[in-house]
Amino acid sequence: MKKVKIGIIGAGRIGKLHAENLVRLPSAEVTAISDIFADQIKEWAESIGIQDVYDNYKIIINNPEIDAVFICSSTNTHTQIIMEAAKAGKHIFCEKPISFDVEETKRALQIVKETGVKLQIGFNRRFDHNFKRVQEMVKGGKVGQAHIVKVTSRDPNPPTPDYIKVSGGLFIDMAIHDFDMARFVSGSDVEEVYVQGAVLVDPIFGDLEDVDTAVITLKFKNGAIGVIDNSRKAVYGYDQRVEVFGSLGCATVKNDFPNTVELTTDEGVYTDKPKYFFLERYLDAYVEETRDFVNCILYNKAVLVSGYDGLQAELIALAAKKSFKEGKPVKLSEIDA
Ligand SMILES: NC(=O)c1ccc[n+]([C@@H]2O[C@H](COP(=O)([O-])OP(=O)(O)OC[C@H]3O[C@@H](n4cnc5c(N)ncnc54)[C@H](O)[C@@H]3O)[C@@H](O)[C@H]2O)c1
Repeated sequence: MKKVKIGIIGAGRIGKLHAENLVRLPSAEVTAISDIFADQIKEWAESIGIQDVYDNYKIIINNPEIDAVFICSSTNTHTQIIMEAAKAGKHIFCEKPISFDVEETKRALQIVKETGVKLQIGFNRRFDHNFKRVQEMVKGGKVGQAHIVKVTSRDPNPPTPDYIKVSGGLFIDMAIHDFDMARFVSGSDVEEVYVQGAVLVDPIFGDLEDVDTAVITLKFKNGAIGVIDNSRKAVYGYDQRVEVFGSLGCATVKNDFPNTVELTTDEGVYTDKPKYFFLERYLDAYVEETRDFVNCILYNKAVLVSGYDGLQAELIALAAKKSFKEGKPVKLSEIDA
């Protein structure tokens, strides 16, 4: 079997996860990995069979043997690396968000278009077994015309202050997954966004001009309306639910649990808490998104999550940020002037 040769750029939380999934994939070969702190990842890389570790990602991009790169470095580095990789003819998997700036994202997408390489964005939740099923049901007409889309997305614990500072804020760092999910399951682009946000979990979010709690309403181009609720702290674990209600019915996804045992006693009925966080909850989805990307290269198929999807989610996030700041609904056309 032909293998797709891959170089990974950035070996933090998500880069390591993708590397560990890719080395187990028979259709892929991880040839090299780069991180600015190369010395700190050498031992780990060797332990999973990756010998070539560099502190300069350009060595990966300039290696003619490599077919594709995974961009898993901090968000502020993504567009530069996308443009360099595309010009070198590498197919690209890039983590979300593409960037913090719409014009920058568009410049990178233009180069991708001109060079004809494939670009997949890391919206892993589209590969979740349940969410994928909801999308197929809505597309197949099972719920009729979509009227209301509901996404609940609450983290079990807030990130560190250092992370919050560079994250771009709740809307672009966290809710961006939910914006993509809303577009994915509804099958429609979004026209308008309105946000209520608050600092209820930790005052550090306010100090850093961010929020930790939000309710976001969406108006879709197909006429449906949506509501997303976010919190940086749900004491019972990672809360990830989706519902599409339409003219013929309703498709609902509840949380995933480590087990489904229900204990019933004279005091009440008990189950386990939802899976702890994204690494546990989306374990299989991460594997599936990398497998699908590699197959798109091997069989020359279109990727399931495109640069356009990345840009749309980014536009919604920026509209949400503006809506919170100005206290009024914001149309995406105001952001994408
Ligand atoms: N899809 C998801 O579920 C998901 C989850 C977490 C993070 N992310 C995204 O992945 C990206 C990385 O997040 P993370 O949580 O892994 O962060 P992280 O800080 O743990 O890791 C980032 C790594 O990139 C390295 N790096 C920075 N600049 C580099 C460069 N020029 N060349 C090579 N390496 C470089 C850093 O040294 C660090 O090791 C972010 O864009 C984030 O939004 C996506």
